[in-house]
Amino acid sequence: MYDVNKIRKDFPILSRTVNDKPLVYLDNGASAQKPQVVIDAVTKAYAEEYSNVHRGLHTLSNIATDNYEAVRGKIQSFLGAEHPEEIIFNSGTTEGINMVSYGWGIPNLKAGDEIILSVMEHHANIVPWHFLRERQGVVLKWVETDADGALDAQAVIDTMTDKTKLVAITQMSNVLGTVVDVKTICDAARQRGIATLVDGSQSSVHMPVNVQEIGCDFFAITGHKLYGPSSSGAIYVRKERGDEMQPFMGGGDMIKTVERDIVTYNSMPHKLEAGTPGIVQMIGLGAAIDYMQDIGMENIAQHEASLRDYAVKKLSKYNWLDIQGQTNTKGAIFSFTIQGAGHPHDISTILDQRGIAVRAGHHCAQPLMQHLGITASARASFAMYNQLDEIDKLADALEFCHELLA
Ligand code: ALA
Repeated sequence: MYDVNKIRKDFPILSRTVNDKPLVYLDNGASAQKPQVVIDAVTKAYAEEYSNVHRGLHTLSNIATDNYEAVRGKIQSFLGAEHPEEIIFNSGTTEGINMVSYGWGIPNLKAGDEIILSVMEHHANIVPWHFLRERQGVVLKWVETDADGALDAQAVIDTMTDKTKLVAITQMSNVLGTVVDVKTICDAARQRGIATLVDGSQSSVHMPVNVQEIGCDFFAITGHKLYGPSSSGAIYVRKERGDEMQPFMGGGDMIKTVERDIVTYNSMPHKLEAGTPGIVQMIGLGAAIDYMQDIGMENIAQHEASLRDYAVKKLSKYNWLDIQGQTNTKGAIFSFTIQGAGHPHDISTILDQRGIAVRAGHHCAQPLMQHLGITASARASFAMYNQLDEIDKLADALEFCHELLA
C-alpha cells in the first residue's frame, strides 16, 4: 500500500511554510527535495567517514572508497546495466552528455556525419552536439513532435541515413512529460550500427528503467532530480562504446602512467573519471537510490500516474488554460499558459504567494518553445511525495491567476 503521508514525513522540508502557507512543492522537474536518509548519509560521510577515495592506504580512505564504490553497484542495479564499469560517475546529465560529445564524438565523428535529435530535447542534450556542428561540421537533424506532443519512433527511424552516427533523445520531456518509445528507436539504430544516447534525467525519476532492455549505448541520469545531492549523477556507457572513447578530462584517477613524453590511461570507468570526484554527493545519491528502490519504482510510477490523471481531469475543464503536451502516456509534468495572462513569470510569482512552487520560463528547451510558438510557459512537475489536495490548491490558484491577469 503506497502511503504518501508516511513518505512525506521522510522529507523534512515538506513540513515548512512558504509565505505563511504550507509548502506545495511542484518544481520537481528542476530539482527534487531530499529525504532524511540522504541528509543523514551526507552528514555521516562528512562527520565520521570522510577522506579522499582511491588514493590512501589508511583506514578512513578505505572506508570512504568502499562507501563511494558501493554506489556504482547500486546505480548498476537501478539502471539494469550488465557491468559495474559501465557506470561512470559525474555531476549529472550535463557533464555526462558533454563527456560523450568530447570523449566519443570528437574522435569518432567527422564533417557530414549526422546526429538526430528531437525538437523537445533539453539544452543539455543539444548544446554539446552544437559544439560538434560548429567545430567538426557534424550535421544536426531534428524530428518534430505532433500537436499533442508525441514523438513518433518511426519518424525518428525514417530520419536515419547512411550518414547518421548518433541518435540522442530524451526518454521523457521535461516540458511536455511525453514518454518516448526509446526501445524501438535504439533497436533500429543498433541494427544500422548507429550509436544511441538516451537522456534519462526525467524518466529515471518516474519509471523503472533497464538500459539492456532499451538497448541504448549511453544513458544519462542526474542525482539532484533523483532525491539525491546536487552535483551527483552518472552515465551508463555500454562496454563496447566505452572502448571507443577517449578521456574527456585529464588528471587524477584517469591515468595509468604519466611520463614526460607519454601518458597511458586507466581502464573504464576510471578513464572517464578525472580529479577528486563528488565523494559525498555520490554516497548521498546511493542512499537516495536505496530509498527509491525500497518504495519501488513501479509503485512510484503508479502513484504519479494517479496524480497525472487527477490533474488532467481537474485542469482540462479550464478552456482558458493551454496545456502543452497531451499524450495519454505522459508523465506527471504539466506545462501551461493562461490565455491573455502575459508572461508565465507572473503566474509563478502569484502561485508563490500561496506557497506553491512551480517553474516558469523556457525550461532550457528553446527549440521546443519555438516549435510550440511560445516563448515561455509555467510548469508544475510532480514527485513521489505529492498528493491530490496539492492539485486542488494548484487549480484554485490558477483560477485566481486567470481572474487577475487575463
Ligand atoms: N532540467 C531542469 C528543468 O527542467 C533544470 O527544470
